[in-house]
Amino acid sequence: MKNKIIITGGTGYIGSHTAVEFINEGFEVIIVDNLSNSDISVLDSIKSITGVKPTFENIDLTDKNKTSIFFESNKDAVGLINFAAFKAVGESVKMPLQYYHNNLNILLNVLEGMNRFGIRNLIFSSSATVYGLPDCFPLNENSTTKRPTSPYGNTKKIGEEIIEDFSKASINFKAISLRYFNPIGAHSSGNLGETPTGIPNNLMPFITQTALGLRDELKIFGNDYKTKDGTAVRDYIHVVDLAKAHVLALQRLIRNEVLENFEIFNIGTGIGYSVLDVIASFEKTTKQKLNYSFASKREGDVPILYASTSKAKEELNWNPILTLDDMTESSWEWEKKRNS
Ligand code: UD1
Repeated sequence: MKNKIIITGGTGYIGSHTAVEFINEGFEVIIVDNLSNSDISVLDSIKSITGVKPTFENIDLTDKNKTSIFFESNKDAVGLINFAAFKAVGESVKMPLQYYHNNLNILLNVLEGMNRFGIRNLIFSSSATVYGLPDCFPLNENSTTKRPTSPYGNTKKIGEEIIEDFSKASINFKAISLRYFNPIGAHSSGNLGETPTGIPNNLMPFITQTALGLRDELKIFGNDYKTKDGTAVRDYIHVVDLAKAHVLALQRLIRNEVLENFEIFNIGTGIGYSVLDVIASFEKTTKQKLNYSFASKREGDVPILYASTSKAKEELNWNPILTLDDMTESSWEWEKKRNS
């Protein structure tokens, strides 16, 4: 019998890559998603890569009743990976109540369902945004968390606090929060990747869409940061390496190797790359010339953000292997394929 796991938000960008890695490791995957920001065809893409089409349930997890019914019929699951959430930073500033309502009610309903039906192991999709505007680097898991700069970010910080409180109050429940740095890249098959709606806010899809001619030019936000070339530095992590961290984290919970009922791991490479580094890698791997110009800084952006990843390496035995070149090249292959 395969171990069954539930992936909420499993048709989304990170969720779908994570579903692939769990299936490859022999798990039975049940995806729950309301398709508010993803497409049902992702299930066929997962099948094209793994040979297995995951079971799919179209449920709005803010609906407590439907969520409870779902948990009752899946109470044999060994764990749950929670990706279901709104994630657009700028939109969350304009619509804070929708973000708090959606992201926190989903989490509460999931926790109540897990509690009621005895599902013990949770992986929470968190973000480096919980460090707010940090003042020292690299960031380790004990670095002070601060008020995130957006309601989206705050739902991640509050989400972690809710899970921590619940893990203290419950005897059997255990959780790991993975704080992602900047996930980019796509599956090497070219069948899965990021599909932002409208004009992308994030760097990588903006680069690939500009190179394809869908956007006129990339505006680089800021060129006078105190960094090696004046552009902002981030810790970009390939989505496939990131997906694998979820498998290792769940196995750690299942084997009860945790030191505490609630653990946190940074998931990045530990290497900071500037915006110009990313562009140089993109131009090198894809042989495309990117149209770009410098613009003023974007409000809320921090100059530098990169992780200390030694805890994930030592305790999860997780080692990211894909390079920045792998990230830019696979993003380009995906962008071309989905627009062909
Ligand atoms: C943002 C969010 C983070 C979220 C992540 C992935 C904040 C503070 N952080 O990170 O919570 O997890 O997206 O969704 O909002 N850039 C340009 N031109 C562009 C777009 C981006 O120069 O058109 C630059 C940015 O200034 C930044 C870097 O590229 O220096 C990366 O930006 P982006 O991909 O948007 O990620 P973050 O802002 O780091």
